[in-house]
Amino acid sequence: MQLIDGKAISAQIKQEIAQEVEKIVAAGGKRPHLAAILVGHDGGSESYVAHKVKACEQCGFKSSLLRFDEDITEDALIAEIEKLNNDNDVDGFIVQLPLPRHINEERVVEAVDYRKDVDGFHPINVGRLSIGLPCFVSATPAGIIELLRRYNIDTRGKHCVVLGRSNIVGKPIASLMMQKSNPGNSTVTVCHSATPNIKEICRTADIIIAAMGNPGFVTADMVKEGAVVIDVGTTRVPSAESKNGWKLTGDVCFDEVAPHCSYITPVPGGVGPMTIVSLMRNTLLAGKKAIFNF
Ligand code: GUN
Repeated sequence: MQLIDGKAISAQIKQEIAQEVEKIVAAGGKRPHLAAILVGHDGGSESYVAHKVKACEQCGFKSSLLRFDEDITEDALIAEIEKLNNDNDVDGFIVQLPLPRHINEERVVEAVDYRKDVDGFHPINVGRLSIGLPCFVSATPAGIIELLRRYNIDTRGKHCVVLGRSNIVGKPIASLMMQKSNPGNSTVTVCHSATPNIKEICRTADIIIAAMGNPGFVTADMVKEGAVVIDVGTTRVPSAESKNGWKLTGDVCFDEVAPHCSYITPVPGGVGPMTIVSLMRNTLLAGKKAIFNF
């Protein structure tokens, strides 16, 4: 069994990005600029956004954090998005989700100019991904593909079972794994809450990508000998042992599953750090106008 070290790979990629940024700047080019909108004070969102700002520093990017109160109106938030759409200094930006319940997330996501949508959530980017056109790929799926690539994991013709059908992870990773590319070229099955025989399907998987947000869902009896297991789960589970009172817990029972795997990602330290680095890569691509050149 080999542990997939997302922390080490993400550190390496941040270094690669920082080197490229310094080359761009030395040649008279513009330092990439990522802006983030944070509404309210959700603990998880605060922490994710703080990590993103720190990653910008490590990559040599400019970053701007725009904070708004929980009770900002939808129209006022859309107006702030419009300002960023029209700000020539901002290469890409994100609106941290989830948003307060009175705000329609779909309207917010669609308000972001798709050419600055480094989260890859806009329907234009999602549609382009599904037909294999250049686009911003959402960060977690992009991070998983990068891990498979850097560990030279053979995905061609393999049976990949995706657990979960979210717009942010399940659907885009299924799309990427079935695409005619490397990594990719897999035969993909997507399982979800209405799938009756998930255990049997998982047992036929060469690759399991668990993204349902259900702590410890994948147990040893669901995993074929030699399978590759990618754990996307990041649920905060109460824990008396940790200082902050909770522990980040994946969708996979790591201790019992790991001995059966050829490769497995830990939680934390697997997919999580790759997600932020993929956002950094998208920002670099936005800064270089490498995907949409207008
Ligand atoms: N909330 C949880 N994950 C994400 C993400 O990748 N981007 C944004 N904008 N919000 C999130």
